[in-house]
Amino acid sequence: MHQTTTSRAVQFESFGGPEMLILREVPAPQAGPGQIRVRVTAAGLNPMDWFMTSDAATAARFGLSLPCGFGTDYAGVVDQAGAGVTGFAPGDRVFGGALSRTVADHVVIDVAGTIAVGGDAHHTPDGVDDRTAAGLAIAGSTASAALAVVAPGPGDTLLVGGAGGGVGVFAVQLARLAGARVLGTGSAASAAALRALGAEPVTYGDGLAGRVRALAPGGVTAAMDLHGTETAQAARELGVPDGRITTIATQIAGITPANGANAAPGALEEIARLIAAGRLRVPIAASFPVERIRDAVELQAGRHVHGKVVIDL
Ligand SMILES: NC(=O)c1ccc[n+]([C@@H]2O[C@H](COP(=O)([O-])OP(=O)(O)OC[C@H]3O[C@@H](n4cnc5c(N)ncnc54)[C@H](OP(=O)(O)O)[C@@H]3O)[C@@H](O)[C@H]2O)c1
Repeated sequence: MHQTTTSRAVQFESFGGPEMLILREVPAPQAGPGQIRVRVTAAGLNPMDWFMTSDAATAARFGLSLPCGFGTDYAGVVDQAGAGVTGFAPGDRVFGGALSRTVADHVVIDVAGTIAVGGDAHHTPDGVDDRTAAGLAIAGSTASAALAVVAPGPGDTLLVGGAGGGVGVFAVQLARLAGARVLGTGSAASAAALRALGAEPVTYGDGLAGRVRALAPGGVTAAMDLHGTETAQAARELGVPDGRITTIATQIAGITPANGANAAPGALEEIARLIAAGRLRVPIAASFPVERIRDAVELQAGRHVHGKVVIDL
């Protein structure tokens, strides 16, 4: 068994913004029964990372307390497997999520766990690099869950709000693969990035419903709001029934929200397979060495990234 004794981990000792993040030397965690230890090579960031560590009340809702780790998505290589583990062995490439502790050299994962409790792990297929795999867990599962709610297919015109973000890049491409026409909201500066994903860009902000109507005079049949409420409201204005609208960032009475935790089993494996087959890609907005974690979080928290922000370890 690998006996690494020290490890680096990004931690919070008090709640707040990126300035609270500290890269520390910590004892390397060890895999117990039913657990694997992963040497993390890349960790993808999500808005939830800085949101849930911003204040004590929010952290408590996620079961977090100080000192607290940081980051939830990861990719790397198994370097320990505890007693009773089947399906994973040292040397296996893996990716997944573990709530608020993945920006670290090592993360211990319960192989029977979930992202919220114990962490989860999936095999990384050949043809998917670690930076890409490190962006899949939260955003990929959430996009998949959102697609399951509105079930876009051939004949559908789907409006995606916040289409260029971490979740949006998966949602747009998965909807296109399902055969739908996709209109994606973004700033004017995001138009080319949205087109490259297969979406027809439409700028967000006042008058959204009118701009969508001009682009799709035949109507919109489904919508997912990945940013707030504007897209869901525009969809209602355009006559989309509530049953074909979903949200992920907020709740709207009458509309079924989507949550990554409810993604179908195998959803991430399917996304990884599509990437390996060259049918889906994960734009990496930026990557940073772990020493620059604060800069990375500031960029992510600006809410204008295209795709994923990744930390290299
Ligand atoms: N329920 C769940 O399970 C779940 C899971 C993951 C995420 N979420 C939530 O879902 C939201 C999206 O997550 P994410 O990872 O995609 O975030 P993200 O990567 O930070 O999203 C960035 C995108 O938001 C767009 N944006 C900025 N202002 C906008 C506006 N006013 N209207 C529409 N789009 C706007 C940006 O487009 P421009 O650059 O063109 O401005 C950018 O492409 C977050 O609030 C997150 O907390 C929920």
